Amino acid sequence: MKILGLCGSLRSGSLNAAVLRAAAELTLPPRELTVDPGLDRLPFFDADVERSALPGAAAELRAAVGAADGLLIVTPEYAHGTSGVLKNALEWLVGGSEIAGKPVALASASPAITGGDRARAWLAETLTVMSARVIPRDLRIPQATLKITDGRVTDEPTRKALSGLLDDLAHAVAEAREGNGTLAS
Ligand SMILES: Cc1cc2nc3c(=O)[nH]c(=O)nc-3n(C[C@H](O)[C@H](O)[C@H](O)COP(=O)(O)O)c2cc1C
Repeated sequence: MKILGLCGSLRSGSLNAAVLRAAAELTLPPRELTVDPGLDRLPFFDADVERSALPGAAAELRAAVGAADGLLIVTPEYAHGTSGVLKNALEWLVGGSEIAGKPVALASASPAITGGDRARAWLAETLTVMSARVIPRDLRIPQATLKITDGRVTDEPTRKALSGLLDDLAHAVAEAREGNGTLAS
C-alpha cells in the first residue's frame, strides 16, 4: 500500500513537515509512505502553460499521485485557508484524473488553539470538488509548539492520533480497492 505525503509548508523548521516525518516513521510494511520532495519545485499554475507543455515537475507530481494508493496531506493554516504552495499544487492536479477516487487524509498543526481546523475545512471542500475521497477522520494539532520539539512529534497522544489517522486511511484504501474490484492488502 503506497501512501504519498504532501506538505503545505516550505519552512525548514516546519511543524507540519515534522508531522509528515512522524507519519513516515509510524508507517510499517506492507504500508509505505513516501514524502514528496517539496511543492516549491512547481511553477505557478498557468492554464496556457498546462495546455502547451506541461512542466516536468507538474507531470511528476501527477505521476506520483497516480502511483499512490492514498494521500496524506499535512498543511499549515494561512489566513484561514491552506497555504498558497499547496493550493498551487492542487491546481496542477485539477487538469489530470490522478486524484479522482483516491482516499486522502488531512492533518494540520498550528501554534494556535484552533489547530488549523479552517485549513482542513477549506481543503476538504477543494479536494471533494476534485473527486478525491477525503476520509472522515482528520488530525488537528493545536498548540503544536508544545507537542513538536526539535523537529520531532514528542507528544504521545498526538503520535497515537496520527497512527489512528494512518489506519483509517489504510482502511479507506482497502475499501476503494474492493470497490474497484482489486485485492486489498
Ligand atoms: C502568513 C501567515 C498566516 C497565518 N495564518 C494562520 C491562521 O489563519 N491560523 C493559524 O492557526 N495559524 C496561522 N499562522 C501561523 C501558522 O500556523 C504557523 O506559522 C505555523 O507554524 C506554520 O506552519 P509550519 O510550522 O508547518 O511552517 C499563520 C502564519 C503565517 C506566516
